[in-house]
Amino acid sequence: MNRETVNMVRSPISVEGNIRLVPYYPAYDTALAWYQDAQLCKQVDNRDFVYDLPLLKRMYHYLDTHGELFYIEYRGVLCGDVSLRTTGELAIVICKEYQNKHIGRKVIEKMLELARERGLAECFAHIYSFNTQSQKMFESIGFVPQDEERYIYKLQKGEPTMTKLTLEEKQELIRMALAARERAYVPYSDFMVGAALRAEDGRIFTGCNVENAAYPLCTCAERTALCAAISQGARRFLAIAIAGGTDEDCTQPCAPCGGCRQNLAEFCGADFPVLLSDGIHPLGELLPGVFRLPQD
Ligand code: THU
Repeated sequence: MNRETVNMVRSPISVEGNIRLVPYYPAYDTALAWYQDAQLCKQVDNRDFVYDLPLLKRMYHYLDTHGELFYIEYRGVLCGDVSLRTTGELAIVICKEYQNKHIGRKVIEKMLELARERGLAECFAHIYSFNTQSQKMFESIGFVPQDEERYIYKLQKGEPTMTKLTLEEKQELIRMALAARERAYVPYSDFMVGAALRAEDGRIFTGCNVENAAYPLCTCAERTALCAAISQGARRFLAIAIAGGTDEDCTQPCAPCGGCRQNLAEFCGADFPVLLSDGIHPLGELLPGVFRLPQD
């Protein structure tokens, strides 16, 4: 192989767990088997017949030349494909045996990262109205239905989702977290934490840590804020700021505990910005491998 050829060989992208994205190459025997499933073809293409080899080749050739096409590999086995078109359109297929393993969700989150690197402003997915399984999966990542069958996800280079927050709004959130911290009830640890959670509708919910003589009953600031928000009807959030520590200015970052990360992940996607004193951290980076129940 000369140097040029070597450069053209694209290497697989690691997702997480045992998942990798393998750049497209002719693996038609494997792939054609996925597309012999009538139910899968119906969900993906709303067609009542399965694929034959020429159709599969045409589709793969089109996707490969109009964007990026990968096979999804799980534990060393190819189990589906995913494509990102230059238009921002994402499409994913996972064969039946490998569904309900959260593979799709992790793959789409990785593809959103790729799309962001490519400088795309948004991604979208076409999901037929009867495909409730895909709807749920895309919505849980943060895709929003634009019309009945088109789901979109806004991207911004560098700071995901923060497009919606101005510098002043971020500062306000940090100020409110600091103010909430002052109300912390911490006779046992003396470690005061405050959190401010901004909902999509503009409301800001705050919380502080509330300790108890029975130590395991202590409640974290983030969870207090989240519970306040949910109990007042907010479900969609733009960002959270967390300020904690023993020094007044909270210069040391107070990273949310694992439990609070999982609590936030119930309502917020991997791009959800967590504002700490050292910068903005996407929730997905703070909590890789989030726990999710299998989707039905
Ligand atoms: N704490 C929080 O409020 N949030 C976190 O994410 C980490 C810990 C609180 C719990 C306890 O009251 C104190 O900090 C010391 O662990």
